[in-house]
Amino acid sequence: MLHVLNHPLGAHCITHLRDQTTKPALFRTLAYQVSLLLALEATRDLPTRTLGVQTPLELISSQVLAQPLVVVPILRAGLGMVQPFTDLFPDVSVGYIGLERDHTTAVARSYYCKLPALNGRRILVIDPMLATGGSAVQALSVIKERGGQELRLVCIVSAPEGVAAVHAAHPDVPIFTAAHDRELNSRKYILPGLGDFGDRLYGT
Ligand code: PRP
Ligand code: URA
Repeated sequence: MLHVLNHPLGAHCITHLRDQTTKPALFRTLAYQVSLLLALEATRDLPTRTLGVQTPLELISSQVLAQPLVVVPILRAGLGMVQPFTDLFPDVSVGYIGLERDHTTAVARSYYCKLPALNGRRILVIDPMLATGGSAVQALSVIKERGGQELRLVCIVSAPEGVAAVHAAHPDVPIFTAAHDRELNSRKYILPGLGDFGDRLYGT
């Protein structure tokens, strides 16, 4: 299932993220804002449980979050999406998967993996760009091998090729994206896209 964000602030952020004149400081702010909207969408159906609470006036039954959350950014660009998740969900556990695409083949190479306990938790894998889908498919496979079950993928810009690859390899994983773009170019960059997210985030 592909969920495309439908929010005016999301559209605004995507427009300025795409703009090649946007500098890293503003780019990071826009990435934060659009990721916050995506975080809300991707957690809309989190389970809750009932808690008795005494208000200043009466005793009520009210809802609190019932399931621990894990967020796993794919390094390095995924780091640009972490803060809204930790701001919204203070008890979230954060894992890290380091993957880097080879510049000529676009095949992702794994260089780091550190994951928290995954059992019984909702797991959100976050990576701003879903291009060929190679990085996301690898990351989702590693998390499943370590016992992760209830996974979601959250990205800022997706390409049809990447969505198809994730759906084929992990049909159980819903994808949340802020923009669903046209295609990949011959170097496997997303069109119209926004260029290299990691480079633009960190000014490299
Ligand atoms: C980018 C992006 C994804 C990957 C997407 O990372 O953040 O992880 O490319 O491409 P794919 O769908 O074809 O695998 P990159 O490999 O450039 O590394 P970086 O985050 O360190 O810049
Ligand atoms: N990674 C990026 O940062 N941008 C793309 O367009 C594709 C992969």
